[in-house]
Amino acid sequence: MKILITGAAGQVGSALVNQFNKLNDSEVLAVARNDLNITNRDAVYKLVNQFKPDIIINTAAYTAVDKAEKEANLCFATNRDGPRFLAESANSINAIIIHISTDYVFSGDKNSSYSETDITSPQSIYGESKLAGELAVIKACTRHIILRTAWIFGDQGSNFVSTMLQLAKTNDQLSVVCDQFGGPTYAGDIASALVAICQSIYGDEEADKFGIYHFSGLPHVNWFQFAQLIFEIANNKGVLNKYPIIKSITTENYPTAAKRPLNSRLNTLKITNVFGINASDWIRGLEVYIKKN
Ligand SMILES: NC(=O)c1ccc[n+]([C@@H]2O[C@H](COP(=O)([O-])OP(=O)(O)OC[C@H]3O[C@@H](n4cnc5c(N)ncnc54)[C@H](OP(=O)(O)O)[C@@H]3O)[C@@H](O)[C@H]2O)c1
Repeated sequence: MKILITGAAGQVGSALVNQFNKLNDSEVLAVARNDLNITNRDAVYKLVNQFKPDIIINTAAYTAVDKAEKEANLCFATNRDGPRFLAESANSINAIIIHISTDYVFSGDKNSSYSETDITSPQSIYGESKLAGELAVIKACTRHIILRTAWIFGDQGSNFVSTMLQLAKTNDQLSVVCDQFGGPTYAGDIASALVAICQSIYGDEEADKFGIYHFSGLPHVNWFQFAQLIFEIANNKGVLNKYPIIKSITTENYPTAAKRPLNSRLNTLKITNVFGINASDWIRGLEVYIKKN
């Protein structure tokens, strides 16, 4: 099985490279932005035609959610056009594309968790660009998997966990929003899910497993509860010697350039039923993360 991984230096990309490195049954070409800028159509086609992967996994994305409100062109080039080039080139050699998407394609107004068939209604430029990327991939390559995930924390790069641990070093008190709910997701678990999907779909032409899937963590929490657990675990493991007081605030009191969905909870039943992949056990992931970092 030949796998091309894009965005290899990112949170999910680097976790994925680590997972594939532990296996012997696949030939992996992992490219970071310096090796392949996915917005360069010619470069994408050239690499895909040279390497001829069986599966392309696109983890590259423009992920600066607030900055995107002012950089719509770059955001759409990266999150819509890049995935389209990858999907078209995959289709041209009869390869499969696996593309990562987000809870931000939803409005966040629903009272329960979002299923794959729920109506999308992004509330930000980032969310719009990610939805446009999904649609472009679906249109360009029939053999596609779109994996929507949420609230990622991985060993590489900055995320909510690294930010909280950093802030705790210099602040006695922090304010964290308590009215946005979702499932934190450990990048290592996304990587495991992606490897399992590759192993399940590769060479299984009969199985109609292509389509959209949700994968994120359980239990669902709000950011305030997530922060509480980060400090509790960090404190127990001796990573933090002082424990900041956390004040819960509402989204209204924490204005950001991009609107966030209040409900980011993704229903992960489909991926469990089709692939036997369970939701990310993010509390275990958090313990692993804090031990490592
Ligand atoms: N982070 C989250 O909480 C979250 C939640 C839901 C869904 N997602 C989705 O999950 C996927 C992975 O996210 P992540 O957290 O791993 O993101 P990340 O850490 O920001 O990694 C994205 C990678 O893509 C690279 N990249 C950006 N523009 C590129 C381009 N034009 N060509 C090639 N590479 C490019 C970035 O390189 P540079 O570092 O050089 O910019 C970075 O290494 C993305 O599709 C994202 O939309 C993320």
